Amino acid sequence: MADTLPCLAVLATGGTIAGAADPRSQAGYDAGRISGASLIAAVPGLDRLARFSTEQVAAIGSQDMTDAVWFALAVRIRALAADPATDGILVIHGTDTMEETALFLSLVSDTEKPVVMVGAMRPSTAVSADGPANLGEAALVATAPQARGRGVLVVLNDTIHGAADVTKTSTTALETFRSPNFGPVGAVTPNGAVFFAPPAARTVYGLPAQAALPPVGIVFAHAGMDAAPVAALVAAGVRGIVLAGVGDGNAATPVIAALAAAVKAGIVVVRASRAGAGAVMRNIEIDDDRLGFIAAGYYNPAKARVLLQVLLAHGIADAAGVQRAFDRPA
Ligand code: SIN
Repeated sequence: MADTLPCLAVLATGGTIAGAADPRSQAGYDAGRISGASLIAAVPGLDRLARFSTEQVAAIGSQDMTDAVWFALAVRIRALAADPATDGILVIHGTDTMEETALFLSLVSDTEKPVVMVGAMRPSTAVSADGPANLGEAALVATAPQARGRGVLVVLNDTIHGAADVTKTSTTALETFRSPNFGPVGAVTPNGAVFFAPPAARTVYGLPAQAALPPVGIVFAHAGMDAAPVAALVAAGVRGIVLAGVGDGNAATPVIAALAAAVKAGIVVVRASRAGAGAVMRNIEIDDDRLGFIAAGYYNPAKARVLLQVLLAHGIADAAGVQRAFDRPA
């Protein structure tokens, strides 16, 4: 019987799901202390759903996620996707930067096999930890034929999200992950995974040859702002700047002027919004055509940074080419 079960490869990186209590406060814990293999072994009934092989790629809180870990994950996903013995891939990850890793892996991984990211909001030692249920649901999704061809999925709290839209919206709530523009792509029900629509077309760029991404910074716009953060990024030698703008991707006049000067100096500038939902469109409040800016569309600032890094890594730096990529589904 076990031989006929699907085979899931687990790539573990740490996160709160692998967290263990720390005596520093009643609710304190250290992320990434429990191995992926122990987490899988602790979920009742998983052995009747699939066979698991587990690799510990990292053991970190996701605030420490790096290009190196992203590339290590992408290389393993490429190899596992090519292995006929592997039916699906789970990535165990902290929730804080899961949305960025999900987009990166989706942009670079050319596979039809399900790739499902999972984490938890409570550490493994918490009363009513959510990790085991989330792991069980992620494994269920990774074995579902309808999960194929959808890029990287994020599964927590009975909900299935796509990589381009999913974002963490609450510091503590179990239902923290939302897809604010297009909604979740599916749900995990007592009868299994349900998807609300067929897989959408998406763009895969492949893994860049260099195992480090070009530096791109984010500038967070606010009232009473001057151009100092833009100047600091330019001085640091970034190749791109994402504006987490107010409203429709806007910022104070000196900031816009400094960003326009950055474009003239060869830096790619993408206008996104700190608002949390809705698209930033070209030439609405800002004359993008004249200033040379890119409008981020539905990508939030953190995701716009990831997409721009991947584009630059593939040599796509001209305004028209970058704008086309931001206009396309990922
Ligand atoms: C982390 O992102 O590693 C810590 C927070 C979490 O996993 O919920």
